[in-house]
Amino acid sequence: LHIAVLMGGWSAERDVSLMSGAGVADALESLGHRVTRIDMDRQVAARLAEARPDLVFNALHGTPGEDGSVQGLLDLMGLRYTHSGLATSVIAIDKVLTKQALVPAGIPMPGGRIVKSADLFEADPMARPYVLKPVNEGSSVGVAIVTDEGNYGNPIARDATGPWIDFDELLAEPYIRGRELTTAVLGGAALGVTELIPKSGWYDYDAKYTDGMTVHECPANIPDEIAEACKSLALEAHRLLGCKGASRSDFRWDDERGVDGLFLLEVNTQPGMTPLSLVPEQARHIGMSYAALVQAIVDEAMA
Ligand code: DAL
Ligand code: MG
Repeated sequence: LHIAVLMGGWSAERDVSLMSGAGVADALESLGHRVTRIDMDRQVAARLAEARPDLVFNALHGTPGEDGSVQGLLDLMGLRYTHSGLATSVIAIDKVLTKQALVPAGIPMPGGRIVKSADLFEADPMARPYVLKPVNEGSSVGVAIVTDEGNYGNPIARDATGPWIDFDELLAEPYIRGRELTTAVLGGAALGVTELIPKSGWYDYDAKYTDGMTVHECPANIPDEIAEACKSLALEAHRLLGCKGASRSDFRWDDERGVDGLFLLEVNTQPGMTPLSLVPEQARHIGMSYAALVQAIVDEAMA
């Protein structure tokens, strides 16, 4: 096949996407496909029209590659592409819309409310500890955890230099103590459960992308009941949102509360494909190489 790999772009996760895209493009070439690498700019439509690929492999993260904009363009151009479509992407990139779609269907997620950043100088939006996060970013960009004792590496409310200050509005959610778990879904099956154990503080951008800063325990050393719950919730969320290709659901688990302490935080429709990324790692654990994973995503898009 002739496959265009879309990567880069101008989101806050541009660098992550360039790493995902390079990995995917190399794998596709090793599988014998003809590859056109496209670092997305505002001329992307013209470049795709010229390349006329059989398939677009979407290796973008964040806006506009993960929020439905690129999906809408590709739909208009009549080009096939990997991963989720327009409507799914619009909902899944938005952490508030995701709650509105999934909570009524019985998926446990933390409550939350939208706050204006300027109001954070006046008062806490809810009892501490809580998390501040942009509604539609990934990779922990702009996230702060506000505790009574201070914070995990990020400024607390009333501190004008916090990462959250770049955003007019933020989602405030109660902080769930305990452990960080994640489950990938591919082709209608959950691949596994990984626990992320950052060596210092919490699982922020640096801990995600610096080799050695986070221990990935795959499979997670957790009770079977919790692992099964992660897999069935991830699968259910993938189905309810109408995800295609690979998705990855992130969880917090309060291990003092048993299965009642498990909460879905979000569904990533364009999960990372870098060498340190979690979906390739879970695939590898069940005997599927990185290249086989990439081919499986291609096969689902071509089916
Ligand atoms: N947002 C990053 C790329 C992820 O979910 O893996
Ligand atoms: Mg995310």
